[in-house]
Amino acid sequence: MCGIFGCILKEGNAAPLIHASLKRLEYRGYDSVGIATLNDNKIQLKKDQGKIDEVHRILNLDDLPGTIGIGHTRWATHGAPLKVNAHPHSDCTSEIIAVHNGIIENFIELKSELQNLGHIFASKTDTEIIPHLIEESMKTNPSLSFAEAVQETIKRLEGSYALAVMSTREPDKIVCARNESPLVLGVNGNGVFCASDIPAFLPITNKAVMINNGELVILSPNGYEIKKIKDSTPVNREPETIEWTPEMAVKQGYPHFMIKEIHEQPQTLRNTLRMQDNYLDLITTFLDRASEVFMVACGTSYHACLAASYMFSKLAFLPTYPVYASEFVEQHGKSVNIDSTILAVSQSGETADTLAAVTCAQQRAATILGLTNVIGSTLTRVSRVYIGTQSGPEIGVAATKTFTSQLSVLAQLALRLSKKRGKISQDEMDCLEEKLLQLPDTVDTIVRTQEEKVKQIAKKYKDSKVFFFLGRGISTATAFEGRLKLMEIAYIPSIAFPAGESKHGPISLVENGFPVVFICPKDDSHKTLIGNIMEMKARGAHIIAVIEEGDEQIKALADDYIEVPKGIPSVLSPIPFAVPLQLLAYYVALEKNYNPDMPRNLAKSVTVK
Ligand code: G6P
Repeated sequence: MCGIFGCILKEGNAAPLIHASLKRLEYRGYDSVGIATLNDNKIQLKKDQGKIDEVHRILNLDDLPGTIGIGHTRWATHGAPLKVNAHPHSDCTSEIIAVHNGIIENFIELKSELQNLGHIFASKTDTEIIPHLIEESMKTNPSLSFAEAVQETIKRLEGSYALAVMSTREPDKIVCARNESPLVLGVNGNGVFCASDIPAFLPITNKAVMINNGELVILSPNGYEIKKIKDSTPVNREPETIEWTPEMAVKQGYPHFMIKEIHEQPQTLRNTLRMQDNYLDLITTFLDRASEVFMVACGTSYHACLAASYMFSKLAFLPTYPVYASEFVEQHGKSVNIDSTILAVSQSGETADTLAAVTCAQQRAATILGLTNVIGSTLTRVSRVYIGTQSGPEIGVAATKTFTSQLSVLAQLALRLSKKRGKISQDEMDCLEEKLLQLPDTVDTIVRTQEEKVKQIAKKYKDSKVFFFLGRGISTATAFEGRLKLMEIAYIPSIAFPAGESKHGPISLVENGFPVVFICPKDDSHKTLIGNIMEMKARGAHIIAVIEEGDEQIKALADDYIEVPKGIPSVLSPIPFAVPLQLLAYYVALEKNYNPDMPRNLAKSVTVK
C-alpha cells in the first residue's frame, strides 16, 4: 500500500510540493521515498531507502528543478526496502519514469519477455517493467503518442495499479491510470495533481476528481483528460468539493482507523490472492519436508495460527503445533532441533516474544519460515523464507485486516500442500479454490449488509458484564479472536472456549440474560453445536449467533443473529465469520465511549518480553 503523487504547476517548483504531499501519504508506507521532476527535457531524480524525513535530511528532496514531477512513498511488496527498489523507476534510456502503487501479477512473464528483448533491470520490483514496456511500445510503434504507449502497456498488465508516468518525449504531461488501487485528482488555479489519496493535496485544494477502475488520465498544463483504457471512450467528470478536515481525510471519512481497516478487507483479501506463486511454493516445500511444524505468534496472529492448524490438518494431513510465542522457549526450547520447522506469524515482524522464539529455534538449527505484514522487519531478516501479507499499514491497535490476510495466506499454503500431497479430491480442491477467490466479495457483502444489524446488537448488549464466545472445530479460533477484539477495545471481560468444553466449567457462570456468541458455520459440527446452544438456552443465556444465510434451525433458537453468505467451506470460515465479530467489538466500544483506535494499556507492536 504505497503512496503516489504527481503535479504539474503553472508557477513554482514541483519538488517541495511533492515532498510535502508525500509526507501526508506516509501513513501508507515509509520504507523508501523518491521524487523525479522534468526540467530542460531531462529527468532529475532523488530516491533512497528510509523514512521521508531521514532521506530528506541527507538528499534535500526539495532541491530539484522543474514545475512537473512525480513522487512515491513505499510499502515494500516485491523486493526488499532498499534504495535500488525505491520508486520512481525508469526505462533503459532514462526517458520514461514511473511510480506505482499495487501489485502486477504477471510481472515475471513480462520481465523475462523484456529481458529477452535486451532490457536491463536494476531492481527486484514489479513496477520496473512498466517504463520498460512503455519504452518497447514506443520503439516498435513510433507513431504512438506517450499516452497511447502507456495505454498499450496497461492493457498487458494483470493485477492492481495506480500509476503515474512521465517522459522526456512529451515533457508537459503526466499519464496516470487506475485498476483497484486508489487514484484521485486535485485541481486548483495553479495546476493539477494526482495522488493515492485526498489528504495528499487537501491543504492546497479541496476540489477533487475521483478516478475509477479502468480509467486513464492525461494531466497537462491545460488540466486533465480522462478516458477508458479499453476503448479510449472519453469520460467527462467535474471536480467535487471535499468537506473533510485533514484528519478525517487520512481516515477517508471514517471516524476511526479500525472501522476503515475493517472496510478495507475486501481489497486486502484481493491482494493476498495475488501472492507470487514462487514464494508460496517455496514455503509449501519446506512445510512438506518438515517432520514437525510449530506455528509461533502472539495475540491475533496466534489465533490465525490456531485456525491454520485445523487447515493444515484437514487439507494436507499435516499436524502442526500452534504455540504462544511467549511460551515457546519454556515449552519446546529443549526439544526443538534441526528437523523442526518454525512458522512464525507476526503482523509487525517485530514482536519480542515471537523473535525470541525464533532466535531460540534458530540456535538449535531449526528452519525458520516467516509470515509478516512488514517486509524489511526483523522477522523477514531472520527467516529462511518469508512471505508478506500485503495488507498495507494497519494503524488501529486491534488487528483486523491483517488477521484475515494472514488467514488467507495460510489457507493458500494449506491448499498447496494438500495438492502436493494429493490429499483431497480434484472436485474438493476446485471448490475450495473457487470459494477462496470469492472471499473478498463475501466479506464485502457482510460489511455492506450486516453492519447496521451489528450496531443494534451492540446497543442491546453494551452493558453486559461478561460475554461468552463459543465455536467448534476451526471456529474455536474464530471465537477466540472475537473474544480478544471485544476485550481489548470494549474492556468487557470475555471468555472463549471450544463449545464442547463449555460444560466442563464455564457453563457455571451462565444465568438469565448472559450473552453467548456462537460461531455457526454449516459444517460437520453444526448438529452438535445446536446441542451446545440448547444447553446454554436452558440456563437462560441470550444467544447471539453468527450463522450462514438461511440457517433456519439456528435462527429459531437465537435471540439475535448475524448472517454471512451461504456455502462457505469450514476451513475458510474464520475469514468471513471473524468480520461481524470485529464490527461487534468496534460498535460496543463506541457505545461505551471508548476510542477503539487507542485501547488503554495496549500497543500495536510489543517489543518487550
Ligand atoms: C499486540 C497487538 C495485537 C497483535 C499482537 C501480536 O498485542 O496489540 O493486535 O495481535 O501484538 O503482534 P504481531 O505484530 O506479532 O502480529
